[in-house]
Amino acid sequence: MNFVRCDTTVAWTALQGHYEAHGRDLDLREAFARDPQRFESLALQAPEVFADLSKNRWDLMTRKLLVQLAQELGLEARRDAMLAGEAINTTEGRAVLHTALRAPRGQGPHSAEVHGVLDRMLDFAEQVRDTAASGIRDVVNIGIGGSDLGPQMVVPALDAYAHPGLAMHFVSNVDGHDITPVLRRLKPETTLFIVASKTFTTQETMANAAVARQWFLDNGGNDIARHFVGATTNLAAAAEFGIHTTFGFWDWVGGRYSLWSAIGLPIAIAIGSEHFRALLAGAHAMDRHFADAPLEANLPALLGLLDVWYRNFHGFTSRSVAPYHQGLKRLPAYLQQLEMESNGKCVDLVGNTLPYGTSPVVWGEPGTNGQHAYFQMLHQGTDVVPLEFIAVKRPTHPHADLHAKALANCLAQSQALMLGKTTDAALGESAPTASAALDKLTVARHRSFPGNRPSTTLLLDQLTPRALGALIALYEHRVFTSGAIWGINSFDQWGVELGKALASALLPKLTGATGDTAGLDGSTAGLLARIKG
Ligand code: F6P
Repeated sequence: MNFVRCDTTVAWTALQGHYEAHGRDLDLREAFARDPQRFESLALQAPEVFADLSKNRWDLMTRKLLVQLAQELGLEARRDAMLAGEAINTTEGRAVLHTALRAPRGQGPHSAEVHGVLDRMLDFAEQVRDTAASGIRDVVNIGIGGSDLGPQMVVPALDAYAHPGLAMHFVSNVDGHDITPVLRRLKPETTLFIVASKTFTTQETMANAAVARQWFLDNGGNDIARHFVGATTNLAAAAEFGIHTTFGFWDWVGGRYSLWSAIGLPIAIAIGSEHFRALLAGAHAMDRHFADAPLEANLPALLGLLDVWYRNFHGFTSRSVAPYHQGLKRLPAYLQQLEMESNGKCVDLVGNTLPYGTSPVVWGEPGTNGQHAYFQMLHQGTDVVPLEFIAVKRPTHPHADLHAKALANCLAQSQALMLGKTTDAALGESAPTASAALDKLTVARHRSFPGNRPSTTLLLDQLTPRALGALIALYEHRVFTSGAIWGINSFDQWGVELGKALASALLPKLTGATGDTAGLDGSTAGLLARIKG
């Protein structure tokens, strides 16, 4: 493999020099004062998503050098290889073709199979949605990771488009406290279970599916084939479970990239086939943008490059996501898997340990809830955490006054993070709640903000299925970009294997009579004895 590591490139060295000279000390307030065109030159309209990148600690030269870095590393060729179906997931010898799942009929690789399953799945979703005929009132998706987080994020996000007579439930955790309260509220004859698992071997999902099947039988259910369906690449294992209605997908669909496939069945049931197709179309529009736009105007590429700039030059270790749309409450969790399972790697494509950082920690909560919890640290803490605001121009609810307040908060937070407040400014203000026992200067120091804290704002017209599809695809391609620059395989997840193997070894010690602790480390042995005791 002709592999070049990013930190050996000319552009990387140039970026280091640029960081020392103009990056570390770049002050956003001064940058805006110097350049009245800063907003225009660093903002970008991509399909469905407008991005203001001007409140980030970079400038046009940074962007130019980052684009050079991408070119030197052959980012465009790697992107094209992915889109063409080359086996870029080298450690598993697989293609990475989630983009084919949203390509219009006849246009992408594997089109006949993709559209065959899609048509069948959407027909089935419409049958379930005809609640008078189907009798279904509750749909339970049993899956975990990529077989859960995508649908669990999209269904509430598109609540304005959801079937009013169907309740959607998601069970993922092997801890019985997840499924138990869900089942308590259901009736077998009005419930449809979707067992969603790419492999159909995942311990958590299989265990919950077995509990659901037993509950169904114990409570008078008698037609498993009608009330259980599967979304999986392992049709044989699903049949063995007793599932006869299955919607397949393929090994070239990674778990965390699978909501566009049969794994999207709960979404299709919730919002219907027309809206599901709009979700796919929005993602496809972003795919075209990623494939065709020059790098300096390519939003996913620029966001991925900015992530590299922050992680490897500024040394920022985390990024916070703040959607100012309650429907996106599960977006941070979804992005955690997308980004951290993809790019949380410490070995490069040829197997060498990396000397530089990769995936940041991604975390967040919907605004304004985050404001009243951890934003304190973002404004006045000792670490700089780049923030990503997501807002919509028009809500899908009728409360214009609430929406205006949400938007005002969103804009104010990015403004406050950047502008900060000097001690002098704080000295000039009254502070009625401050202790009278303290001198004014001390109070002013506590009430000042360093500012110059970076943020990105992503703005959608409205959270429609099409816009959400574009937004998710934007994140997928951004993760691809930073992973490609870091020279890692963003499409495997060996890091989850060790814990799975150890759990299998520990299970008999927990359930067996003796709980033999021989050979275990002292802590695990101690905890096991305490649990068994
Ligand atoms: O956590 C590891 C993982 O393989 C994820 O990548 C995947 O999304 C999840 O498990 C679920 O896997 P499956 O769909 O095969 O049940």
